[in-house]
Amino acid sequence: MPAIRDATEAGPPRTLEITNHAIAHTTADWSSAMTTMEARLAWVNQRRRLGFPVMVAAEDGAVIGFTSYGEFRPREGPVEHSVYVREDAQGRAVGRILLTALIAHAEKRGAHVMIGAIEARYAASVALHKWAVFAETGLQREVGWKFNRRPDPVFMQKILAGS
Ligand SMILES: CC(C)(COP(=O)(O)OP(=O)(O)OC[C@H]1O[C@@H](n2cnc3c(N)ncnc32)[C@H](O)[C@@H]1OP(=O)(O)O)[C@@H](O)C(=O)NCCC(=O)NCCS
Repeated sequence: MPAIRDATEAGPPRTLEITNHAIAHTTADWSSAMTTMEARLAWVNQRRRLGFPVMVAAEDGAVIGFTSYGEFRPREGPVEHSVYVREDAQGRAVGRILLTALIAHAEKRGAHVMIGAIEARYAASVALHKWAVFAETGLQREVGWKFNRRPDPVFMQKILAGS
């Protein structure tokens, strides 16, 4: 079972290749340009400054996934999250372990709602969020543009315990 750590202990840049693989090969991230080390460090530092977590799953000295949340809408207080698992580590419950740790963090922080925007056709991500008892709250039509098609994001939300 992988260990869950703060990204800064394992080195934030080690999440970079997971993100860039997702950008190059999937519609989980709708960017068309690869992200850079500089942008990744700035993102991690900004999350930390605002008190939000960036967590990694580490196994045999390697980072095999990461997860984070940040503000969805500043005034209302819900958080929006993401979770990424390295392709060769998918299907081994790493996503479940990361998302469980992230939910526990958000509950401890007192967040009331966690929201994910998920590509509706991406069965693994929808299944992961259903497993974690997220409810589908709205399908957006043709919001993205990637690989010559317009993906539909579905919003999935979880009302958190103890808030
Ligand atoms: C979505 C993602 C995080 C799932 O992580 P994972 O470690 O592979 O998933 P787990 O092994 O924890 O399994 C979680 C669920 O996904 C299902 N699943 C995993 N891989 C799957 C696949 N290729 N096709 C269909 N379902 C799949 C599992 O069966 C499980 O569902 P169940 O509870 O109904 O059995 C991973 O596929 C990923 O990183 N994808 C790219 C990034 C992304 O889409 N992130 C989500 C957007 S925020």
